[in-house]
Amino acid sequence: MSPPTTTIYLIFIFSLFIPPHPSTADQSFISLLITQNGLDFVKDLLTSEAISMLTPLWLNQIEKTVKIPLIGKVHIVLSDISVNRVKIGSSYIRPGVSGVSIDGSEVTCELSMKWHYSYGTSSWIAPISISDSGTASVEVNGAGVDLTLGLDNEEGSLKLSTVDCNCHIHDMEIDLHGGASWLYQGIVDALEKQIMSAIEKAITEKLNAGVSKLGSFLQTLPKQIPVDDIASLNVTFVNAPFLSDNSLGFEINGLFVKSQKNTPSLHNALRSPVSCSDSSKMVAIALDQAVFVSAAALYYDAMFMHWVVDKAPEQSFLNTAGWRFIVPQLYKKYPNADMDLDISLSEPPLVQILWQNIEATVYSDVIVNVLEGDETIPVACISLAIAGTGSVEVIENNLAGHLKLDDFTMSLKWSKIGTLHMFLIQPVMWTLIETVFVPYANARLGKGFPLPIINGFTLQNAEITSSDSRITVCSNVIYQKESFDRSSIAS
Ligand SMILES: *[C@@H]1O[C@H](CO)[C@@H](O)[C@H](O)[C@H]1NC(C)=O
Repeated sequence: MSPPTTTIYLIFIFSLFIPPHPSTADQSFISLLITQNGLDFVKDLLTSEAISMLTPLWLNQIEKTVKIPLIGKVHIVLSDISVNRVKIGSSYIRPGVSGVSIDGSEVTCELSMKWHYSYGTSSWIAPISISDSGTASVEVNGAGVDLTLGLDNEEGSLKLSTVDCNCHIHDMEIDLHGGASWLYQGIVDALEKQIMSAIEKAITEKLNAGVSKLGSFLQTLPKQIPVDDIASLNVTFVNAPFLSDNSLGFEINGLFVKSQKNTPSLHNALRSPVSCSDSSKMVAIALDQAVFVSAAALYYDAMFMHWVVDKAPEQSFLNTAGWRFIVPQLYKKYPNADMDLDISLSEPPLVQILWQNIEATVYSDVIVNVLEGDETIPVACISLAIAGTGSVEVIENNLAGHLKLDDFTMSLKWSKIGTLHMFLIQPVMWTLIETVFVPYANARLGKGFPLPIINGFTLQNAEITSSDSRITVCSNVIYQKESFDRSSIAS
């Protein structure tokens, strides 16, 4: 992105000037709330991930020597045991003090396996050995799975841990294909418990492995989301996640940062909890005014809020001939000379997020240059205070803006061509702002900046509200990738 592009990119809406204050503690300027509906969505996603991870699931071979009446000692081996289908009848998710609990009940599984037995019997002639083999299927009908996940902030990343992971099977049905009825009874009596606990253990282990995989995925979430080549959004987690009865909240730093540089410290962190008027929305993201302040300060400090206008829809503005009757002395001194306008911000833009309204004021200096041959001759400087009304919308996962010009005031800062009649220049400036400045700004603001959303998830039916010094995005979410594995950042 070229400097002027970036210049205008965030000038207008996303900014406010507040003198920097020293700050000691980590503060949060964007907070994210996952509502009960959002949690249910996450639960369904995790449940289907778990099911696909559990099928097929191979269990260790089970063997045992059992004493069967009339037959004697029989060595039974169950092998190639695999869980082929898992269904979770009902499930719920609940945040609590110890972590987020996900419970699945009415869990059913189907397993297949091979059986083999052998025994020796001593006949009166010689010891003989008898063996047989076949297959079996097992149906687990009543099982429950409880998983409690701990969530912590570890050096700015989310740390996921298993607080508790249990699987209990209440009821199981074994169906032998082939084999004698004594064998069936023998297996049920001697091995049912062992099969059950093997399944329980395998499921628990697999779920633990899944949690640690998800945990390492969360650990690798980036701490910055690039906005463009100058700025990034600092998405470092601050403070511990907030768990309430029916929601899960996260706080992130949320300020704009230049690569590896310090950001201005800002005072007004988020105070009240995030909420949505529409309780069916899955997530709420609240952005404090300070997020926009940090953007404005950063782009302002980086001297990027500077722009030269040498093309305009009304090209006559950019020639002294066009100013002939407005500033006669200019035309007299430089007849028919081309001009350009050098616009730079004199202060970081001011943005105020108000109730259902966003007000922006941009303070800029416009230097009028006359171009003579290779020479650029500054002839006057006009200070502008442009007031506009901003609106924001969500485009994919970006927060984009739009500016509408309301009013502006102007004054002469200096002049090398004598007094200028500001009331004559005013209509020209208005046209210039309306036809060049605002459309240009809107083209850039329209792209917006990324909201902190994990890759693979997309906001849907987002609604935006602005309240006193805060913008809240309430939205549903859809998930498009099959796995957590390959995602890295939002953008
Ligand atoms: C990002 O935010 C964290 C937490 O507030 C902070 O410690 C860190 O210094 C910030 N990073 C930059 C580059 O400012």
